[in-house]
Amino acid sequence: MDHFIYKNGALHAEDVAISEVAAAVGTPFYLYSTATLQRHFTVFDEALDGLEHKIFYAMKANDNIAVLRTLAAMGAGMDVVSGGEYAKARAAGVSGDMIVFSGVGKTEAEMRQVLAGGIRQFNVESEPEMRQLSRVATDMGKIAKITLRVNPDVDAKTHAKIATGKSENKFGIPMSQAREAYREAASLSGLEVVGIDVHIGSQLTDLEPYRQAFTKVAELAEALREDGHNIHRLDLGGGLGIPYERSNEAPPLPVEYGQVIRETLGHLECEIEIEPGRLIAGNAGILVSQVIYLKHGEGRDFLIIDAGMNDLIRPAMYEAHHDIIPVIEAAPGLEPAPVDIVGPICETGDTFSKQRAMPPLKSGDLVAFRSAGAYGAVMASEYNARPLIPEVLVQGDQFAVVRARPTYEEMISRDTLPSWMES
Ligand code: LLP
Repeated sequence: MDHFIYKNGALHAEDVAISEVAAAVGTPFYLYSTATLQRHFTVFDEALDGLEHKIFYAMKANDNIAVLRTLAAMGAGMDVVSGGEYAKARAAGVSGDMIVFSGVGKTEAEMRQVLAGGIRQFNVESEPEMRQLSRVATDMGKIAKITLRVNPDVDAKTHAKIATGKSENKFGIPMSQAREAYREAASLSGLEVVGIDVHIGSQLTDLEPYRQAFTKVAELAEALREDGHNIHRLDLGGGLGIPYERSNEAPPLPVEYGQVIRETLGHLECEIEIEPGRLIAGNAGILVSQVIYLKHGEGRDFLIIDAGMNDLIRPAMYEAHHDIIPVIEAAPGLEPAPVDIVGPICETGDTFSKQRAMPPLKSGDLVAFRSAGAYGAVMASEYNARPLIPEVLVQGDQFAVVRARPTYEEMISRDTLPSWMES
């Protein structure tokens, strides 16, 4: 069920009219639907029915504390990749035993921080990291539970910048070295091996790479058990894709993904952990922007809007498609015409879409980017001294600003002058 729908020609999120939020908050802004976040969590939970499982939301997708609280209240744990994410998860009320720590470059300071605060497991990505963690945990008198992330060398068939499971990628330990790495892990003090971790990429729209990767993980789990390791947790990462272009995309459903897990790994009777980010948050959010000008160029029209690549970088960075829809539905009979939809930033890359068929729009009209709830606000910057844009959460007929737009003064006051300059 879609919670972003037109009612009497006006786009709503649940029971809130988008134009009302725009009038109250100003544009541009991100807006998230509680009901959609909850539904996506439930869909995953049900997809793994019958398997002992836990869902660790990959909070890199959207780390607003109100979003984290919404999901934690449903029973979600968090997958974190930095000391900052760990601190945010804890601030949202998530306990350490519901947090897993992923990432290829965990620092000693981060290891100390999470061991002191409590952590369910480290997903270790290399032998040097494993040795460092052993030193830190031993020094602190702690036992760090670990999985080793293996690199199964499969082609995830997704955008090159977000594929992680090929041997040429920086992630994980090659399958061929895994048994040796586990042997070393078992010999090190301060560590307890609990399972295996794998994550092959993001925005996967085909289940076959998962089937290949999980089959290799199952073989490894059996070999490791024979070697005497107590393999009882399998962290399968995230990555299941979402439809960005509603008219012609139908990626696999979580229930089908759950079936692949059952078929490839079910017999091992391990606890299954998954780390979805995009599928939970992506289609739970929109970016709302206002048209500044419609400019007639030579041979093409440009719709210049007040959101820029600093607010939503995905089109510039991954050639990503986002559906862009008018907040007030076009009157019947008005023909769509192609326009280039661009932001105000001084770069040609600040282009959201070329020759997109759009209904007639004029200065002051509002548009909404769909599927902007994941990797939207979290990847924003203040390039061109444009303050980070606000985030709004909707629940039923209520909305609240869950991150305010900084004032220019707040933005400026973060810079400080060195002593040798006159203030
Ligand atoms: N687990 C690990 C270890 C990850 O590296 C990631 C994503 C996830 C889970 C969650 O993947 P998801 O379910 O969200 O696909 N900025 C890019 C996506 C980068 C994904 C990085 N890792 C984008 O905008 O498409």
